[in-house]
Amino acid sequence: MTREPSPLGKDLIGLEELTGEQILSILDTAEPFKEISERRIKKVPVLRGKTIVNLFMEPSTRTRISFEFAEKRLSADTVNISASGSSVVKGETLVDTARNLEAMRIDMVVIRHGSSGAARFLADRIPSNVINAGDGAHEHPTQALLDLLTIRDHRHELEGLKVCIVGDILHSRVARSNIFGLLRLGAEVGVCGPMTLVPAGIEALGVRVFRRIEEAIEWAEVLNVLRLQLERMQGGFVPSLREYNRFFGVTMPRLEAAPRDLLVLHPGPMNRGVEIDSDVADGPHSVILQQVTNGVAVRMAVLYLLAGGAPERAEAAKKGGMG
Ligand code: CP
Repeated sequence: MTREPSPLGKDLIGLEELTGEQILSILDTAEPFKEISERRIKKVPVLRGKTIVNLFMEPSTRTRISFEFAEKRLSADTVNISASGSSVVKGETLVDTARNLEAMRIDMVVIRHGSSGAARFLADRIPSNVINAGDGAHEHPTQALLDLLTIRDHRHELEGLKVCIVGDILHSRVARSNIFGLLRLGAEVGVCGPMTLVPAGIEALGVRVFRRIEEAIEWAEVLNVLRLQLERMQGGFVPSLREYNRFFGVTMPRLEAAPRDLLVLHPGPMNRGVEIDSDVADGPHSVILQQVTNGVAVRMAVLYLLAGGAPERAEAAKKGGMG
């Protein structure tokens, strides 16, 4: 198959850079790819011959494994690199690491990094496709894409839907990517959290701010509950985890008092009993594990599109090559 220019461009760095049409094309491409993971033999030759490096400089369970499954199910050759197992611990820079990988003729790099802007920095310096798997507090585009896909599975239409992101907005790349993606698709977006964890002036992005969880729940149709990122806090953001749960926790009594049936998402990993109670996380409102399942299909879609695949040929691509 002749390789065509990707409808996404060379890289996927953030949803802020995408149009609503591009976001929908990823979601629509993910739909036919869902079925591959339900097969007995979960493998199609879509990316046969492509080499992909997963460069994870921060810990990850869901994103790293999900990308690896997506790559393997599309028949790409994959290599995983972590900070502790690489020459980064000897002081090698990110760009030198990437240039050495390039010298081995790779096609794509999936990068997670603690610094905002690391994915863009790399994308501007190497010819391979770069996919941002989370950079500092900047963006985590594939997480937001799988959130959008999961919401669409249940609510069908994102236009006009009221989605509230609850918790640690300040440190959250997931919040930023969700805000950009939801607004591009016409949803109404709210954020809710303690004043210390909601960035000043966030309304300028086009979101409403709720200071009380009860008001957010009264307004919203979907809650996306975020983890308190304790590892990024130097202290003083919340008085105690018990108080955080008391004032902002998503609990069953709060959901039962809501005027409508709410859909509850969480990107993981969860602090059970802090931002979300276990009976909510494991209960009927929750679609948390479906998010994880959808993550594989969304990442397959991103890999396929960046490799030059066309959304309308995704169904055919599953039968042999790029479609
Ligand atoms: N949602 C998410 O990014 O989880 P991981 O940190 O486990 O990848």
